[in-house]
Amino acid sequence: MGTLVTNPGNMWRQHRRDPKRTKFPSTASSYTMVSAIPPAISRAALRKAAFHHRDTSYNNPSIPFKFSSLNMKLIDEILKRYPPQYKKAAVMPLLDLGQRQHGFTSISVMNEVARLLEMPPMRVYEVVTFYTMYNREPVGKFHLQVCTTTPCQLCNSDAIMQAIETHLGIHPGQTTADGLFTFSEVECLGACVNAPMVQINDDYYEDLTPESMISLLKALQASAEATGTSAGASGLTQGDEQPQINLPAPGPQGSGRSSCEPRAGLTSLTSEPWGTEKLRTDGEL
Ligand code: FES
Repeated sequence: MGTLVTNPGNMWRQHRRDPKRTKFPSTASSYTMVSAIPPAISRAALRKAAFHHRDTSYNNPSIPFKFSSLNMKLIDEILKRYPPQYKKAAVMPLLDLGQRQHGFTSISVMNEVARLLEMPPMRVYEVVTFYTMYNREPVGKFHLQVCTTTPCQLCNSDAIMQAIETHLGIHPGQTTADGLFTFSEVECLGACVNAPMVQINDDYYEDLTPESMISLLKALQASAEATGTSAGASGLTQGDEQPQINLPAPGPQGSGRSSCEPRAGLTSLTSEPWGTEKLRTDGEL
């Protein structure tokens, strides 16, 4: 017997990029067994794709999780934004806090959020399995989330995926052996006008080309090496000198745009923008 898998979308995208692919199962029932999945799909990708939880030594309900005192203060602030009878509406920011504290959204994090918000744990699991922003497995130091939804795909996100696979030697759903990079394929991240793009931890890098993507990866690898956070790095303990780290700033990469303005330049609102300092010039305010 295989294992129940309920998210064929990611599996299909994996399969689509495999040049040696065989015919993908076409009936809905074919999606329900792992044994029906083409061999090109990795076990890690399957774990990520499947909406199920399996107890492991690092992720099971008997591992205790409590929010830190600082995060409990933040939670108090968050809950003030919702009527008390609707406090379960705070499930997403609380899960985000839990993930930031614990490193990933473990079953214990979910259960603690359910307890605090007095909601059935299943309701929390439903939220976590719907949004890719919640990592149900530990991720590397840099989490690369490449968007491959239609606008990004039309702007060649396939080439960005390929560049990452070639440079790091991993596929979506996998982490590099040194624990530095985790690679995920995600749906629209809301930066379509700057497609193709990747989210790395909390930052967006946009207007990508395969070349700019690889330079970004190299810069991240160099920064990890310089700060001693990569495997085998000499790190900051070597001498007193602070390392020179040249990480590209988030935002458009090498396209000449500073934000999401038209590539050919502004066509409207071309005059000097008004700032608050220009509203009054009589010194009264
Ligand atoms: S389609 Fe990629 S960010 Fe929207």
